[in-house]
Amino acid sequence: MSEPYDLVVIGGGPGGYVAAIRAAQLGLRTAIVEKRGALGGTCLNVGCIPSKALLQSSHHFQMASEEFSHHGIKARVTLDLKTMMGRKDQVVQDLTQGVEFLMKKNKVDYVVGEGRITAPGEVTVKPAKSAKKGAQKAKKKQTLKTENIMIATGSEVTPLAGVEIDEKQIVSSTGALALKTVPKTLIVVGAGVIGLELGSVWRRLGTKVTVVEFLDHILPGMDAEVSKQMKRILAKQGLDFKLSTKVTGAKAAKSGVTLSMQPVSAEKGGGKKETLKADVVLVAIGRRPFTESLGLDKIGVETDGHGFIKVDEDFQTNIEGVFAIGDVIGGAMLAHKAEDEGMVAVEIMAGQSGHIDYDAIPGIVYTWPEVAGIGKTEEQLKQAGIEYNVGKFPFTANSRARCNADADGFVKILADAKTDAVLGCHIIGPEAGDLIQEVAVAMELSASAEDIARISHGHPGLSEAVKEAALAAGGRAIHI
Ligand code: FAD
Ligand code: NAI
Repeated sequence: MSEPYDLVVIGGGPGGYVAAIRAAQLGLRTAIVEKRGALGGTCLNVGCIPSKALLQSSHHFQMASEEFSHHGIKARVTLDLKTMMGRKDQVVQDLTQGVEFLMKKNKVDYVVGEGRITAPGEVTVKPAKSAKKGAQKAKKKQTLKTENIMIATGSEVTPLAGVEIDEKQIVSSTGALALKTVPKTLIVVGAGVIGLELGSVWRRLGTKVTVVEFLDHILPGMDAEVSKQMKRILAKQGLDFKLSTKVTGAKAAKSGVTLSMQPVSAEKGGGKKETLKADVVLVAIGRRPFTESLGLDKIGVETDGHGFIKVDEDFQTNIEGVFAIGDVIGGAMLAHKAEDEGMVAVEIMAGQSGHIDYDAIPGIVYTWPEVAGIGKTEEQLKQAGIEYNVGKFPFTANSRARCNADADGFVKILADAKTDAVLGCHIIGPEAGDLIQEVAVAMELSASAEDIARISHGHPGLSEAVKEAALAAGGRAIHI
């Protein structure tokens, strides 16, 4: 393909590669620049996909070793971690290669290397040192001329002062997805999504896991009732929690890592400093935008106080023709949010219209049971002074959950007290991440709780719990 391009996307994650495909579908001459040596970004390479592969494998292990006997199945189970990790790596490889195939299929030029914006309409690509071994690499620097540039460079691990990540003993999520042996003990710093998902993986495989969290609750941002009940469920499964605790340093030695911490109240003069030792420490205190070496300063792209790139409603930065989407612009750091933004940004660029309803983006935690939330939490509704009805239904009263021996959790639907419009839904339960999609459709179509309640739901099905919660919002649940 000859230059100049209509669009050069920098970053081949779910935001960038989806934007590139959509742009090509719309007839834009498109190139995508990725330095990793594999497409799919954080999500496919070191995020969503390998973590879900290990969550699935470790769930099977736990089922076989602890749960099958309740179903009358006796099994002697041993762990083959090498095979488990190998399967995970194969899933990642297959999917990233699949994305590469999609680039070819859609005639998107894939340029391997580090992209830098040298001027509006100009991206220079240099061979990337960080590209995966064996990856096709740009041999020399090249310059791509283009009408538009889209920055989709994602995010990186937020470091913790006094705790140096070596990806062996003190690991980020990337290291925690590739441990070579099952540690006897693991301390997770941060009771957010990564901490609970990866803490669950290793707990299921036999590790004693302690989660240290700065706040007085887990899963910040989620509905408070969900956060409370999930903590009880995870504690029952064997996770230890140390809440309201600040980690102040870590020292790695041959015998393990010693973590120093203090109660948050110590900053106000209360509580004692203490240390805790573990084979491995996982730092999971959030992620920050990644814009290193992009040349933002050179062309004057504005960022906010946290380094996120500022964009307008069309995803354009303050520089004409330079757009940004995904983790690098902030908001929920989720793959599907990045994808949606990539699609909409490109459609607007091509002269179409587009819009994202940020209130209807589900957030899912793939522990077992899963946690899923969409729309407003009860706390947000109270704060906004919106009157609402709560419809709640426990999985203990759902026949399918009882058949499956998976009855922990509930569905909670929040509906406007005056109009009955669905304002939010929060689920702890089996397959919560899939169940919430019905509510996403309802919210996108401005449906009421009664609309959900009147839809026929197959029996016996987990989704009947969603129907019953919708019925309960109108005070007429049948099975409780
Ligand atoms: P990224 O996926 O981060 O992609 C950015 C890409 O840009 C990277 O590949 C990077 O190498 C490349 N890049 C950066 N700078 C340059 C440059 N100058 N030149 C060329 N290339 C460059 N989200 C979910 O929705 N569901 C999940 O289950 C989930 N699980 C996760 C589990 C873990 C352990 C982690 C860490 C994250 C998880 N996420 C999950 C979050 C999800 O991975 C991100 O929200 C998503 O990847 C963001 O997509 P993106 O396209 O904005 O950026
Ligand atoms: P997070 O923001 O979810 O959680 C970080 C936690 O660390 C918070 O509870 C915070 O209070 C705590 N914390 C911060 N500083 C601390 C300190 N000094 N000591 C102790 N605790 C501290 O971030 P996390 O888990 O690192 O995940 C990063 C991003 O990746 C999230 O924004 C999430 O959206 C995304 N992700 C999504 C997944 C999914 O959709 N299933 C799975 C994994 C990650």
